[in-house]
Amino acid sequence: MLDEMKTLEVSLGDRSYPIYIGAGLLQQGEIYRRHIDSRQVLIVSNETVAPLYLQAITDALDGFDVGSVILPDGEQFKTLEILNQIFDRLLKLRFNRQCTILALGGGVVGDMAGFAAACYQRGVPFIQMPTTLLSQVDSSVGGKTGVNHALGKNMIGAFYQPRCVVIDIATLATLDARQLSAGIAEVIKYGLINDAGFFDWLDANIDALVQGDHQALAYAIERSCRDKAVIVAADERESGQRALLNLGHTFGHAIETGMGYGCWLHGEAVATGMCMAAALSQRLGWIDQVVVERIVDLLQRARLPTEPPPQLDREQFLALMGVDKKVMDGKLRLVLLRGIGEALVTDNFDRAELNNTLDGYRRAKV
Ligand code: NAD
Ligand code: GLY
Repeated sequence: MLDEMKTLEVSLGDRSYPIYIGAGLLQQGEIYRRHIDSRQVLIVSNETVAPLYLQAITDALDGFDVGSVILPDGEQFKTLEILNQIFDRLLKLRFNRQCTILALGGGVVGDMAGFAAACYQRGVPFIQMPTTLLSQVDSSVGGKTGVNHALGKNMIGAFYQPRCVVIDIATLATLDARQLSAGIAEVIKYGLINDAGFFDWLDANIDALVQGDHQALAYAIERSCRDKAVIVAADERESGQRALLNLGHTFGHAIETGMGYGCWLHGEAVATGMCMAAALSQRLGWIDQVVVERIVDLLQRARLPTEPPPQLDREQFLALMGVDKKVMDGKLRLVLLRGIGEALVTDNFDRAELNNTLDGYRRAKV
């Protein structure tokens, strides 16, 4: 177990907020009660996570007027329709503008609860309590909130920062191995974007992470949050370098949408997307084969998929990738690599090589 709680900061002027990282934090209400303005608290969770952790938080908030809403579990429920369940509950409880929404769950719950907080009465405070590795290292930090649309992932949403992020590493004990690996994909992303030293550390410690070793996870979570906090502080609304956090996501979102939400896990799609971005970077002559092999090898050791599903052909990929939020003036922009720890966002690449990359996977199967 972690000896002591670590506190990081996301520096955004008067909207700055702490990220608390430690074991057993959900039970320690004194850590997050200070970020709550009034007695009214709505805990948003889902049918898997609520039975595990809702009672502990309700107990820790003794003296508060605590309500809850339990959403169905799954990426396919990250919709405007299900979002309405949160508003229904808030209104039935007659919660006012000073109420706090507390997101207890993985990235799906966090994105939806955060978006509800951004919208309810034009904005109420919210707290992130992420319980998957993926949400602890990525989605709970930085204020991206929203839901999916049938035609594109995360297409309806808002930038809206939480009051604090409470990362209780002990919650990972109940997470299954596939979900843990999905989170490791986003951890590896930080190494690839701009932290080559972290990539080396991951190369040496990947087995410990996959096995759920507590100290290794604690280190990886802290370093990932630190890396993300720096990028978010520099570019909150993604007008520049924050787009680097989307390494693998343009390919990955196409896989998630094309295969049907919930079929591939987000982290699995990102892992494959990062391999595709690396493969394209190699075709463009920006990185060597050995670098691509090192990336694929690390992801495979993390038990992640590294090739796209054969059901999706080039035309389907291109159509789905065209709905990406990074598209500017009709031009596709991608996050590509010039080395490990050297990502860039660019529309300046040979489209023929993108086609060859997409076709290459299908040819390899024939
Ligand atoms: P998820 O929220 O679907 O959680 C994965 C599964 O684990 C679910 O079945 C959930 O109920 C279960 N679960 C959660 N915590 C658990 C625990 N402690 N023990 C046992 N089971 C538990 O998926 P995710 O990987 O956490 O998040 C993916 C979502 O996050 C996607 O919708 C993605 O678009 C979004 N995302 C958002 C951002 C952002 O910046 N906002 C960044 C990355 C990903
Ligand atoms: N996960 C991408 C971002 O937060 O910007």
